[in-house]
Formats: sequence, C-alpha cells, structure tokens
Amino acid sequence: MTNQQKSNPIGIFDSGIGGLTVVKKIFENLPNENIIYFGDTARVPYGSKSNQTVVEYSIQNTKFLLKKNVKMVVVACNTASSVALDVLRNEFNVPIIGMIEPGSKTALNNTKNNHIGVIGTNATINNKAYSHRLKKLNNKIKVYESACPLFVPLAEEGWTNHKAAQLIANEYLKKFKEHEIDTLILGCTHYPILNDIIQKSVGKKVKLIDSGTSAAIEVNNLLEALDLRNDSTRKGNHQFYVSDVPRKFQEVAERFLGKKISHIEKIDLEELIKS
Ligand code: DGL
Repeated sequence: MTNQQKSNPIGIFDSGIGGLTVVKKIFENLPNENIIYFGDTARVPYGSKSNQTVVEYSIQNTKFLLKKNVKMVVVACNTASSVALDVLRNEFNVPIIGMIEPGSKTALNNTKNNHIGVIGTNATINNKAYSHRLKKLNNKIKVYESACPLFVPLAEEGWTNHKAAQLIANEYLKKFKEHEIDTLILGCTHYPILNDIIQKSVGKKVKLIDSGTSAAIEVNNLLEALDLRNDSTRKGNHQFYVSDVPRKFQEVAERFLGKKISHIEKIDLEELIKS
C-alpha cells in the first residue's frame, strides 16, 4: 500500500449525532488516523423510515465519503447496517464495516447465562438484524429485543441525565427484568449517549455492549490486515459534515467528544441526493 493511500481518511456516517459514539472510540484507538464524519442531520431519524429509503440514503452517504477519497467506510448506524450493508459492499469497492457483527460478537463473549437483550430503532428491531446474527453465531442464545425510538431525539437533544429520559428508559426497559438478561446490546449508536440512564434502569449487573467500541476494534484489525494503517506520527485531522445544522449538534457533539470541533461544514442536500 502506498503512503498516500494509508494517509487517506476513514469515512464514517450516521443519521446524526449517534455515530460520534463510534468516532470517539476510533479517536481513542487510532489517534493518528484522519477522519471524515458525515451526520445526515437533515434526514434523521433513519429508524422510522422504510428499508428502501435507508438503503438510498446510505448509498448517497457512501458516495459523498468516497468523493473525499476515504480508504474505508464505517457505517456508524445500526439501522443502515441492518438494511444496507450488503448492498453497499456489493456496490462499492472499498472496505466497509458495519455495527451488527462486531456488537454481536462482543455480546456473545460477555454473556454467561446466554440471555441477551437488544435495544435499537424500529427498523433494526423489526429486521431482526441482531437476533439473526446472534443465533447464527450461537444457536443456544435467547434473544429479547425491544425498540426504543424516543431515545434518538433524547440523545440529539442532549438530555443525557434528564428525569424525563429516565422515566422513558424505565418504561422501555422494564420487560428485560423478567427475562433475566445479563447482557444488553445498545443496538443504536445514539444510545451510548444515554448510557447512564440505561444502566440505572436495567441495574448494575447487566453489562451494556456499545457496538461502537467493538466496531472501533474491528476498524483497527482491518486496517492492520489490509496494511492501510496511517504511519504518520502526527495527530489525525478530523472533519465533520452535516446535511443540516441543528441548534444542538455542535454543543452536544463537543460535550460528548470532550473536544472542540473546529471543522464543521453543512453540505447541500440537493448535491448529496444527485451524487
Ligand atoms: N444512530 C442510528 C442507529 O444506530 C440511527 C438512529 C436513527 O436515525 O433513527 O440506528
């Protein structure tokens, strides 16, 4: 691999702010990599849209990142990973990492009683993305799934410790008590932003699996295997693009990432659709 290819950025997309939970882990694991993040804030949420729409958006987002010469694409959205990953891998000649496989493997490594809970958007849960993958990897596993659609707007709003968010979490998550799960997959990249309230609802004994952490490890391994790791010793350059600038994006993103975002640019949605 040439040095130029190695120094190309990693492209990451999500419907909004959620993919930053993956970006944060990639920053920690791979500080020298250049990153281009695209949050499709004009069209969030994806989780309530049809599979066909999410596939179309995912293709457009990937084309946008490829125009920026990315060496790898990370689909930092469980919804897009569950419905569009195969299409993207067929369509584009670039390594593409999704969220479902890494999160499933980590959950299987963690569970002792083989009772795993999964929470995600309506699309991810209705498509049974995690239960199919988990059962394929281990057919003895019992999987209990639940959609928590209100978590996405709560995370986008930055209500990470709000009383109302706790009440909603308690309501969504109470059914997991009777199933005695020991592991809960946060099957939406927005949910780690609400980690504390989710943990409070399910109790300390349940291990929360953040698919972003597992995906970041996968990114690391794949870069290594493909000899694509950036050899530079300088800190990576991080660029953020959004399709709309919601009031809270920068504030919530900076609070969550714990750093200032210097380059954030709004792209033209019409251009994105035409690409
Ligand atoms: N963060 C995304 C996911 O992981 C999508 C949330 C949404 O847009 O509904 O599924």
